[in-house]
Amino acid sequence: MKEELMVCGADGAPLYPIKIEESFDGIVPLIAQLQMTGRKICIVSDSNVTHLYEKEVRGLLEKEGFFCVSFSFPAGEASKNLDTVSALYEFLIENSFDRNDVLIALGGGVTGDLTGFAAATYLRGIRFIGMPTSLLSMVDSSIGGKTGVDYKSYKNMVGAFYQPSAVYINVSALNTLSEREFLAGMGEVVKHGFILDKEYYRFLKEKEREISARKSDVLCEMIFQSLCIKRGVVERDPKEKGERALLNFGHTIGHAVEKLNHFEFLHGECVSVGMVAAAELSVMHGLLSRQEVDEVKALLDAFGMKTKVPMLDKEELLSVCHRDKKADGAKINFVLLRTIGEAFICSNVSDDEIWNAFKTITE
Ligand SMILES: NC(=O)c1ccc[n+]([C@@H]2O[C@H](COP(=O)([O-])OP(=O)(O)OC[C@H]3O[C@@H](n4cnc5c(N)ncnc54)[C@H](O)[C@@H]3O)[C@@H](O)[C@H]2O)c1
Ligand SMILES: [Zn+2]
Repeated sequence: MKEELMVCGADGAPLYPIKIEESFDGIVPLIAQLQMTGRKICIVSDSNVTHLYEKEVRGLLEKEGFFCVSFSFPAGEASKNLDTVSALYEFLIENSFDRNDVLIALGGGVTGDLTGFAAATYLRGIRFIGMPTSLLSMVDSSIGGKTGVDYKSYKNMVGAFYQPSAVYINVSALNTLSEREFLAGMGEVVKHGFILDKEYYRFLKEKEREISARKSDVLCEMIFQSLCIKRGVVERDPKEKGERALLNFGHTIGHAVEKLNHFEFLHGECVSVGMVAAAELSVMHGLLSRQEVDEVKALLDAFGMKTKVPMLDKEELLSVCHRDKKADGAKINFVLLRTIGEAFICSNVSDDEIWNAFKTITE
């Protein structure tokens, strides 16, 4: 099964295609289509993904006569910094990469974010292709144009909006992804259904077993639908001035949980519990029914996603929620649900409500 979609700018002009396939084979025709023939290519990947897929991708490109080099860095968020970007610049300079040459970001969100940022800044911008290999990067970080790195202890503090020339997704790469990372990616997948698309939520519910068994054709369909939902949002609000904030559903309490547990839990796990808390807040505001919250939880439980976390200190939790970059001055802009498939931004959520909602997700 193959899917393809085009991401456009706010003016409707096409920006880049996304191809969803079940192998890496389609990368060669894609590069031909992008008029990159004869250009040097640098494949950027982390230590895990290098080991798994770099040889295959490089082999396909070299067979077509491309001059290919590979840059690998230690896997993990700790590598998403300016030092790694600097080492990549150095590598590109040593290999005489010029403005017409191309980077390929082969890996998860860390690889995509840092390669995209290096591409945005090397020689004032060179082309890059996203080849996301984690579920989170396939449905979330590979689309939307946000690139960047962490700075000291500040996450995503340095970056640029910069679009790839194309995104190529090989769904079969998910076969090697750990269960924990897969479920973390599912956090963002179900989020798309909860905030904007009840039909998609029903699809996820119906196909839960096939998705959990990672059936390739169902994953293709799921990733395609998720990308279509995120595409709609980023096309309407490319620079996060309004609607794009809906994508932060589950993220306010989620980020606080992530931070106060010292990043012991994965981002997607924190989003999962954060969505339950936000659904509870929606009940407190007379929006969602109790039955709907139970449905939200039932879907997360069916996949085996996280719905409970350890207790935290009230003052610390509230303080981090207020400091979250999505907070607007004293008021926190919370994404709540009117119903499943319909989110909106609410700025009158009180601290007591946040605390009471958080208590419902504690172990
Ligand atoms: N730019 C954006 O819009 C955006 C959106 C969401 C998240 N992000 C960023 O994305 C990052 C998180 O992404 P992530 O969860 O993909 O992290 P990641 O890139 O660290 O990948 C997670 C782990 O999975 C491994 N991996 C990746 N693909 C694999 C595969 N096919 N088989 C086996 N192992 C594989 C990686 O080596 C890594 O150990 C964070 O830095 C976050 O800030 C960016
Ligand atoms: Zn997220």
